[in-house]
Amino acid sequence: MHRTEIPLALLVLTFLGTSEGTCTSRLHITAFEGEPFYLKYCSFSSERENKTTAIKWYKNESHGLVELNSSSSPRIILHDYVLEFWPIELNDSGSYSFRMGNDTHDWKLNVVGRGKHSCFTEKLVISKVVEVKKSLHVACEHSYYQKPVNRTLYKDCQKIENSKNPFSKNAEFEDQGYYTCVFFLRHNGKLFNVTKTFNITIVGDRNNIIPVLHGPKLTHVKVELGKDIQLNCSALMNEKDKIYWNNWKENENDPNIHEEEGQRIRTSEGKLLASKALIIKNINEKNLNRSYSCSVVGKEGIDTKSFILLKKDVIDIPGHVFTRGMIVAVLISVVIVCLVTVGVIYRVDLVLFYRHFTRRDETLTDGKTYDAFVSYLKECRPENGEEHAFAVEILPRVLGETFWV
Ligand SMILES: *[C@@H]1O[C@H](CO)[C@@H](O)[C@H](O)[C@H]1NC(C)=O
Ligand SMILES: *[C@@H]1O[C@H](CO)[C@@H](O)[C@H](O)[C@H]1NC(C)=O
Ligand SMILES: *[C@@H]1O[C@H](CO)[C@@H](O)[C@H](O)[C@H]1NC(C)=O
Ligand SMILES: *[C@@H]1O[C@H](CO)[C@@H](O)[C@H](O)[C@H]1NC(C)=O
Ligand SMILES: *[C@@H]1O[C@H](CO)[C@@H](O)[C@H](O)[C@H]1NC(C)=O
Ligand SMILES: *[C@@H]1O[C@H](CO)[C@@H](O)[C@H](O)[C@H]1NC(C)=O
Ligand SMILES: *[C@@H]1O[C@H](CO)[C@@H](O)[C@H](O)[C@H]1NC(C)=O
Ligand SMILES: *[C@@H]1O[C@H](CO)[C@@H](O)[C@H](O)[C@H]1NC(C)=O
Ligand SMILES: *[C@@H]1O[C@H](CO)[C@@H](O)[C@H](O)[C@H]1NC(C)=O
Ligand SMILES: *[C@@H]1O[C@H](CO)[C@@H](O)[C@H](O)[C@H]1NC(C)=O
Repeated sequence: MHRTEIPLALLVLTFLGTSEGTCTSRLHITAFEGEPFYLKYCSFSSERENKTTAIKWYKNESHGLVELNSSSSPRIILHDYVLEFWPIELNDSGSYSFRMGNDTHDWKLNVVGRGKHSCFTEKLVISKVVEVKKSLHVACEHSYYQKPVNRTLYKDCQKIENSKNPFSKNAEFEDQGYYTCVFFLRHNGKLFNVTKTFNITIVGDRNNIIPVLHGPKLTHVKVELGKDIQLNCSALMNEKDKIYWNNWKENENDPNIHEEEGQRIRTSEGKLLASKALIIKNINEKNLNRSYSCSVVGKEGIDTKSFILLKKDVIDIPGHVFTRGMIVAVLISVVIVCLVTVGVIYRVDLVLFYRHFTRRDETLTDGKTYDAFVSYLKECRPENGEEHAFAVEILPRVLGETFWV
């Protein structure tokens, strides 16, 4: 339990209700600087036996008990069982005593200062827990200062515009926070304010669901040795349920297995979508044929699923290798076709280029004067005819310098 929760709970419990507001029976009291404040003696006898019995209030100062009266400070008002402060200040901290005949009561008052930007003090909050989707109800009522000039509601010190009293809505998780009612009071022509702050916590639906893991109960996963694998386990569960991987301990026997931190996403119903992965790095033979199981455990039940790693058939060409092979084969074919086409088109030029490059001409050493002999009767044909063009233009161009007419 939080340290401040115990006194706060007691504080709430011990403000006992009476017809004229609550009396203060608790020994240790905290007050907020600058606000009107009161101490009220709890009289358990129905009627004051003798009206003339004197009532006295004291403050235990460093030099001893000092009797309080309405002229001891303009901020103090005494009437019967009540001591009022308009307002209370830090230097009002200390011990106070009420005396009536043989009856006496003491309080230890601690006045706390205001933080610079805070409209409330965390030491004076009333805690409330509200279930999500249920009614969030904040009533700005004060049992002692019953007739405020007006009242305003703040959430985390931001004014809630046009808030009705009581403030009421269906709770959502974003509604969690500190709700401060500010009551404005008029006293002797001056305006004062009193605050009352609720620490509202929104919790998930308390009706627990039966937690369930996603996916089939048994999954066979084909793996390759030396590769990594991530086994996923996820569930819809209650906030207090647990999800974990079984029969496996970190770095014991299996240093290549590692459990992920896990993720939790809260749904609007206050349930959790939780997931936890088991990562197996550099898969070895020991990891095969073994069952890795994951469980979700809650009050409402337990659910388990398992994974078994199987060795993938080696004959099987893995998908990516196959694709790459296909691409390479197609590329090579395209290149070959291109080369052949170029070779066919430029075959003569290629031969000539080869000769030029090697500076070698095997026709020079074959003992023949000419490579070829073309005889053509020039005078009988028109000069622009097909035969003329072949003999005089194409042949010399293609056959090159060794051509003699
Ligand atoms: C309430 O009174 C205190 C001090 O008297 C002042 O600092 C604060 O601003 C007041 N709050 C509002 C909401 O007026
Ligand atoms: C009230 O107390 C006074 C003195 O303290 C006494 O004289 C008177 O008789 C008492 N009255 C009753 C009704 O007890
Ligand atoms: C006043 O306070 C002192 C020390 O703080 C304590 O010793 C003493 O008993 C107190 N007196 C009363 C009447 O509470
Ligand atoms: C009120 O208390 C002050 C000291 O705190 C004292 O001087 C004064 O006489 C008291 N007045 C009455 C009417 O008791
Ligand atoms: C207590 O504090 C208030 C405001 O800070 C001041 O007006 C008052 O004089 C102080 N009283 C004493 C007894 O110091
Ligand atoms: C106070 O108590 C004493 C002893 O317990 C008793 O003698 C006395 O009468 C009581 N006084 C009153 C006013 O009750
Ligand atoms: C308010 O409630 C939340 C959630 O229960 C808690 O963590 C926090 O400590 C509370 N604040 C105070 C000031 O009590
Ligand atoms: C409440 O009354 C005070 C004083 O009259 C004023 O300053 C404040 O704005 C009022 N608040 C609302 C919400 O009316
Ligand atoms: C687990 O989830 C991751 C990422 O979401 C995915 O890459 C991987 O293939 C999943 N593992 C299995 C065994 O389905
Ligand atoms: C795993 O089981 C298969 C048949 O279920 C078997 O052929 C193989 O040898 C087993 N591998 C290991 C490592 O136990």
